[in-house]
Amino acid sequence: MDFHALLRLAHITGFAAWFGTILATLFLLKALEPGLTGEKEQAEEHSLLLRRFIKLETKVADVAVISVLLSGLLLAHFYEGWTPWAFAKIGLMILQIALTMGYIVKAIQPITYPCDTAKYRAWYRLFAISLSMFAIVLLVTFFLR
Ligand code: HEM
Repeated sequence: MDFHALLRLAHITGFAAWFGTILATLFLLKALEPGLTGEKEQAEEHSLLLRRFIKLETKVADVAVISVLLSGLLLAHFYEGWTPWAFAKIGLMILQIALTMGYIVKAIQPITYPCDTAKYRAWYRLFAISLSMFAIVLLVTFFLR
């Protein structure tokens, strides 16, 4: 088995799974918005559903992030070399995780449901941060090598 191909497979699959969980969460939040910003009883039901989904999602996302990180570090070590490009990717990945985790603690965790739509928009700002960071890392990956 070609170790290089195996690492690239883990790297790309990890990235795809991570990206997929973010998009799935965005669609769920869009679908749940009327409930979470509406009547109290429905908001409680939907927030329970959201919490259950996020619990499952974080399990997959955690494994995916670790796969991307480990395979990326191994690819850099054995094949790519510690180039500025590899360091840029490491830096961007750390920045992405710090920005999203920081925003979750600051703006998402304090929300209680039902909330008004203005407050709910914090979720969409979180996705804007996350997807912008994915776009930057992918641009660096494909165009600045
Ligand atoms: C610790 C962070 C990372 C490191 C050290 C790293 C390192 C690398 C290396 C060395 C390669 C080249 C593989 C090869 O062709 O031999 C690669 C490819 C790739 N990486 Fe990363 N990576 C990191 C994070 C990420 C992240 C966060 C993403 C997605 C947003 C990503 C997406 C990709 C993609 C799509 C490729 C394939 C490019 C191609 O086939 O030409 N990487 N990465």
